[in-house]
Amino acid sequence: MSDLNALFEAAKAVREKAYAPYSNFLVGAALRTPDGEVFTGCNVENASYPVSVCAEGGAVSAMIAAGHRKIAEAVVIGDAALCTPCGMCRQRLKEFGTDDLIVHVADLNGIRRSFSMDELLPAAFELEDKKD
Ligand code: THU
Repeated sequence: MSDLNALFEAAKAVREKAYAPYSNFLVGAALRTPDGEVFTGCNVENASYPVSVCAEGGAVSAMIAAGHRKIAEAVVIGDAALCTPCGMCRQRLKEFGTDDLIVHVADLNGIRRSFSMDELLPAAFELEDKKD
């Protein structure tokens, strides 16, 4: 299985774990670090809607908690035409993306489109003295 196929399957599997009783919209995210580690997350909703966490947020937290700091490739999967990351998650991914991070957006059948971080978040806000 290619690295990208494995990343897709990881995102698809974690999507099944999502807690989304309010939207009924399950999302999975899988991130690959430059050294090949994979971290996943799913959306976790809450009765108080703004408390909900996106799939990408969970995956980024898992990656950071494991001591990693860089995302080389990501897959986000939802059962929608194009489940692109929300604005807040674009900023989240930007914080840790390598310069050539590619974000693949998938549905249940496979990858639909692939984006560079610059396409998703042009003219992004980033602090010059950001710590690696
Ligand atoms: N959602 C994500 O987890 N990631 C995305 O990229 C798009 C949207 C979640 C948030 C909410 O739980 C549900 O999908 C519907 O918006």
